[in-house]
Amino acid sequence: MLRWCVNFLAFPSKLTPILRLYDHGLILESANSPSRNFGYRTMPEISAYIVLKMDLLPHVPSIPHDQSSIILEAFGLLSTTAVVLPPQDTPMHPYANSHANPSGPGDARPSALQIISDQKLEGALQEKTIVITGCTSGIGIETARALHATGATLFLTVRDVAKGRAVVADILRSSKGSGRMELLLMDLSNLASVRAAATDFITRSDRLDVLIANAGVVSCPESKTADGFELQMGTNHFGHFLFFQLLKPLLLTSSTSESHSRVVVVSSWSHTLGSVRFDDIDFARSGYDKWLAYAQAKTANIYMANSIERHYRHRGLHGLSLHPGNVFGTEALRHATQENIAQVGDMSVLRKWEKSVPQGAATSVWAAVAKELEGRGGMYLADVGEAEPVRQEDPVGGPGYAPHAFNEQAEERLWRLSYEAVGLEYED
Ligand SMILES: NC(=O)c1ccc[n+]([C@@H]2O[C@H](COP(=O)([O-])OP(=O)(O)OC[C@H]3O[C@@H](n4cnc5c(N)ncnc54)[C@H](OP(=O)(O)O)[C@@H]3O)[C@@H](O)[C@H]2O)c1
Repeated sequence: MLRWCVNFLAFPSKLTPILRLYDHGLILESANSPSRNFGYRTMPEISAYIVLKMDLLPHVPSIPHDQSSIILEAFGLLSTTAVVLPPQDTPMHPYANSHANPSGPGDARPSALQIISDQKLEGALQEKTIVITGCTSGIGIETARALHATGATLFLTVRDVAKGRAVVADILRSSKGSGRMELLLMDLSNLASVRAAATDFITRSDRLDVLIANAGVVSCPESKTADGFELQMGTNHFGHFLFFQLLKPLLLTSSTSESHSRVVVVSSWSHTLGSVRFDDIDFARSGYDKWLAYAQAKTANIYMANSIERHYRHRGLHGLSLHPGNVFGTEALRHATQENIAQVGDMSVLRKWEKSVPQGAATSVWAAVAKELEGRGGMYLADVGEAEPVRQEDPVGGPGYAPHAFNEQAEERLWRLSYEAVGLEYED
């Protein structure tokens, strides 16, 4: 698998080398004549060379960009004037370049509204209906604001109708969009409320093109849902699972061959901290850990998207999961103290990658409407593109996904278990 690629523009010849790093080793080739391969070095060779030169412990399989001239030297092509170019934008990483060197909230990384503009979707989705959960705060509000610009009909789920009305008024003040916005009262920590919200929606809408499962509780103190589930797993996963299942018939009938339906599930980098604990989902045996409970719920979010893809892609319904980025301008950390946050990462590092809330909604909006994703799913997205596996030296809060994020056996186990947990008959 290709891990990393560097172009050297200011190389003192016309060769313009490109260095491609694969799991097995490095290949140096010429951008101008791709058939010219200057050499191949295996990982142990390159690693040994770096240790020799820099007295550094290598972090195979990735080598920081600033070591690239040393790698060139290892190929016998030393260039002190080598310039490392940032990653190139591609259809599945359309904003790779602007994510290469973040400089804080509001920097060059796109906002959710920028995605709508770049996709040329202002006023273009008037026939579509989109449901977004958790629209009274943070990323949900900015997701709704951007999607309102498309002209789609939006249903925003809220726990507090007065708060929801204030959000709608605020969006209408700021948006040029003309789509309808309606509120749906739903508490995901109560399955009766989820059922009522689904029934309410079905009586008010005869179609559903996109469901964005955005609402979430983060690292909260130990507590139970109305139905007795651990609060984070119950709210973030089981509540959304039931809501999806009840809306599924509409998602399927709204899908057309030109425009498939989508379910976008907002997960988090925190899924990398732990997987689903099938032998102790409620932490009854091991004792509660708020970050492991969050990690479990956010892994479950990924599994739900992957399972939706596997079960329904052939019927025109796709599942995508994502990490929105580190977005500290929301209420997500309302339960966390500085001490709690320090348990998972150094705040100064987390801040380096921080996004504004509109930037934090960009990946959700891209997942919901991007033309590049038409008819596709089963992907974990981050930084407005398809994510890569997490690397050992990635910062806390980074865009990579954990090895356990794609595990068909575990995904199916959770899928079946979830049917039972929410009291639904299993159906394929
Ligand atoms: N912010 C980040 O850095 C970050 C990073 C990774 C992932 N995420 C994920 O992004 C999503 C949005 O988070 P955010 O940062 O925007 O947080 P937020 O500001 O706390 O917003 C969370 C939303 O979820 C709603 N919600 C909470 N419990 C609910 C329940 N029981 N039933 C229905 N809705 C409920 C909240 O409603 P109320 O207003 O009524 O509380 C609010 O509208 C979450 O899934 C979170 O896990 C966030």
